[in-house]
Amino acid sequence: MRTQVGIIGAGPAGLLLSHLLHLRGISSVVLEKRSRDHVERRVRAGVLEHGTVDTLVQAGVGARLLREGLPHHGIELRYGAESHRIAFDELLPGRSITVYGQQEVVKDLIAARLAAGGDIRFEVTDVALHALEDRPYLTFGGERLDCDVIAGCDGFHGVSRPAVPDGVLTTYERAYPFAWLGILARVPPSAEELIYARTDRGFALHSMRSPEVSRFYLQVPPDTSADDWPDERIWAELKARLETVPGFTLATGEIFDKGVTPMRGFVTEPMQYGRLYLAGDAAHIVPPTGAKGLNLAVADVRVLAEALDAFFATGSADLLDGYSRACLKRVWRAQHFSWWMTTLLHTFDTDDDYGRRLQVSHLDYITASEAAATTLAENYVGLP
Ligand code: FAD
Ligand code: DHB
Repeated sequence: MRTQVGIIGAGPAGLLLSHLLHLRGISSVVLEKRSRDHVERRVRAGVLEHGTVDTLVQAGVGARLLREGLPHHGIELRYGAESHRIAFDELLPGRSITVYGQQEVVKDLIAARLAAGGDIRFEVTDVALHALEDRPYLTFGGERLDCDVIAGCDGFHGVSRPAVPDGVLTTYERAYPFAWLGILARVPPSAEELIYARTDRGFALHSMRSPEVSRFYLQVPPDTSADDWPDERIWAELKARLETVPGFTLATGEIFDKGVTPMRGFVTEPMQYGRLYLAGDAAHIVPPTGAKGLNLAVADVRVLAEALDAFFATGSADLLDGYSRACLKRVWRAQHFSWWMTTLLHTFDTDDDYGRRLQVSHLDYITASEAAATTLAENYVGLP
């Protein structure tokens, strides 16, 4: 079997890359180890930057996103008894974010690929990468796929990055001493906008998926399991962290999804080796506080699709050679913003009063200074 681009992973990065290549007349095969049902149900991100929405709409896969996605023109920062709105619409006229579940993006992309006759293999086993320097090929479940180029879009725990010989990649990493417990609940959102709450008990986030479904996150110890969190405990903790301002009551309902995510920042440099190009979480991950992971994955494959277009059209590898360099500036900006939001809003050490004062002082500054609020808004909505 032969294709131009062998893509490992049917997450947002791999699927969007396959679709963008198809629009340019370039063939690809996507190899995914999980089932279609599994990837379509996997609950993760929800915040799409302005540029991510533009990319999906321009690629012709944004119809349902435009219909069902929830445009947001601000977020709330809550700390102590203070709640302050960062008004994107005033600070950055014309720019906004859209709340639309990652698994909905994944469903839309799978539907578009299959409708166009795209080749996605689900539940493949033992994917392995070979001859990356020259004539790359993939093997899986007893089959062989020859490719001109391989795109490693298989997430942080995939096989692509470890296939690069030792000593080629430099990795940068920061682990955080906490995790996020994320839930979905059948209850209307308790506020119109996202609420990022800093409390002495830890961070909490109020988000949503639809007028009927709310999404919440709680900062939890890193070794916690979802089983340690019965529903009553989750609601009690969310109330303790979010009902801190007069007049705000958290509506509760049936919790139908629960998951714990470790928090880590990670970057590999470069994001390529020979004919292998890494994109999305395979190359970098951010703590989710800045809502950047999915958006970075989309930005990477936008660059990669253009570089591959030039390569197959003209034979020139100039853009491909510059792929990492083109991506890493945005990647590091997102790392910094995600680290900054995480540091600002989470409890690091329960005894650290000095650290707490610094957080509150900086939140006061964002509240008082239009310049500081604009910096936050610009990064959150996404740089062009
Ligand atoms: P993935 O989505 O991880 O996809 C990789 C795919 O590769 C998977 O389908 C996997 O099954 C497959 N795979 C792995 N190994 C193999 C193998 N050996 N063979 C074949 N296939 C393989 N980002 C945001 O932008 N905004 C947010 O609001 C946000 N919130 C988040 C909240 C949570 C709780 C979490 C966990 C993440 C959040 N993120 C957010 C991050 C975002 O979900 C990820 O950055 C995004 O999924 C990256 O997409 P990807 O395609 O690179 O990787
Ligand atoms: C969501 C996830 C995030 O990481 C974030 O910062 C905001 C919202 C969400 O899933 O809705």
